[in-house]
Amino acid sequence: MGGLHNPYNDEIDAVAEKGHKIYLSYSCNGCHGGGGGGGMCPPLTNDAWVYGADDDTVFRLISEGSDKLQEQGYKRVRKEIVTGPMPPFGTIAKTSDDLWKVIAFIRSKNPSSMKKVNEPAQTPGQ
Ligand code: HEC
Repeated sequence: MGGLHNPYNDEIDAVAEKGHKIYLSYSCNGCHGGGGGGGMCPPLTNDAWVYGADDDTVFRLISEGSDKLQEQGYKRVRKEIVTGPMPPFGTIAKTSDDLWKVIAFIRSKNPSSMKKVNEPAQTPGQ
């Protein structure tokens, strides 16, 4: 754990638009809003990251979902405006490359989170 890194971190702006299309095609917007600003689920644009803002944690959350993360020992370390389970997208996403592009889109909407990409907020099991 802690070892996953987004290959697009040096070219966020270049892939953000493609990432946004994938984000919409996976219906992330139904819960998080079209621009990631939140809706019935937490905004992706603020400084509160439930499990951590680093690449490794965010990738695991999106691919495995929050229930699985919690089974693995991850805790909610920050409180968001709404709390609920995040469904897993690992089987829906065609490739991990698609998920990294979606994460690049989220970073483009949340530039301050870039400082934390390589700092896992928690590494259960290590
Ligand atoms: C059915 C609603 C739903 C859908 C669809 C959904 N999410 Fe989520 N998402 C949530 C919830 C609820 C949380 C908060 C999880 C928690 O508190 O454990 C969350 C959390 C997150 C977080 C962490 C946010 C934070 O503030 O820490 C990210 C990043 C995220 N989702 C990305 C995505 C992406 C990318 C997609 C599409 C591939 C997506 N979500 C689809 C409900 C959803």
